[in-house]
Amino acid sequence: MKKIAVLAGDGIGPEVVAEALKALRAINKKHAIGFTFEHKLIGSCAIDATGDPLPADTVECCLSSDAVLLGAVGHPRFDSDPAAKVRPEQGLLKIRKALGLYANIRPIKSYKALYGVSPLKESLIVGVDFVVFRELTGGIYFGEKGRRSGGSEAFDLCAYSAEEVERIARLAFAAAQKRRKHLTLVDKANVLETSRLWRDIVSKASKDFPDVQLDCMFVDNAAMKIVQQPAFFDVVLTENMFGDILTDEASAITGSIGMLPSASVGSKVALFEPIHGSFPEGAGKGIANPMAAILSAAMMLEHFGYLTAAQEVRAAVELALEEGVATSEINRDKPASTGEVGDFIAGNI
Ligand code: IPM
Ligand code: MN
Repeated sequence: MKKIAVLAGDGIGPEVVAEALKALRAINKKHAIGFTFEHKLIGSCAIDATGDPLPADTVECCLSSDAVLLGAVGHPRFDSDPAAKVRPEQGLLKIRKALGLYANIRPIKSYKALYGVSPLKESLIVGVDFVVFRELTGGIYFGEKGRRSGGSEAFDLCAYSAEEVERIARLAFAAAQKRRKHLTLVDKANVLETSRLWRDIVSKASKDFPDVQLDCMFVDNAAMKIVQQPAFFDVVLTENMFGDILTDEASAITGSIGMLPSASVGSKVALFEPIHGSFPEGAGKGIANPMAAILSAAMMLEHFGYLTAAQEVRAAVELALEEGVATSEINRDKPASTGEVGDFIAGNI
């Protein structure tokens, strides 16, 4: 038995999550896992219903579940209102903190069927397969922030403790050991004190992983290298905001941000979500790519140790790509709808 808390969220969140659930139901049928799903509110829809982007009842459900599947949060009506006191994104940041999700794992993989839609030329993207370990509960996202000088000055503090750095570093090194044994720490140690702490702690931790080659790269240089030579990377380890920015950049390699799943893990329940946002302009139109959400469900299966099931989901996604059963950003000539893509994938599981 596995209880899954489902937080579909805003915009296209509910649509892509519905397709991920189709895939999980197909797996459930095939392997008799005994999944149960409980739906809860987060983000803008939670503000509308309760005034709170993360109601207590949502947190309780997540904490009593085996995993959380999340869609997306965000609504444009908050984006252009700097005075808004409550924001959908606060729900996401709070759930990350409440579940202790300090490591956000974002695999970046190029798919042969998508070479033509990537803005990079094929020779650069062949064989791209790396994973970013983004620290998720510290840094500038969670530091003290505010206004001073009567509101005419603002600040956001970036702070890290040695312990916060070390725990994710160990996860990243362990992952590198199972891959090509190459870890790149991305920082800005020529300017930032927090980055110098990262270098210090990560170098010390590397002594326990002597088979993994560690190199350190400044974030500006890494941003360039991701488009110049993406196949260079194996495991990338970085702090919260650098990881946020670099993974959006890296998603362009695949040709669609709608392909990228993620897992967030930590001290309690793990959470799985696509890296894309709520894409409000696309909501309700059946045009959102559900593959990132479906691949996030595959990461969940893998996390539970259901490796065959995870592989079956991934194979069904790859088959859909090969057969051109994909949404319009991938198959421009004959696009399939969100539901058609999900049906095809569930049907092939
Ligand atoms: C992400 C998103 C979030 C982040 C936003 C919605 C708060 O961009 O998960 O990458 O910045 O972490
Ligand atoms: Mn982001």
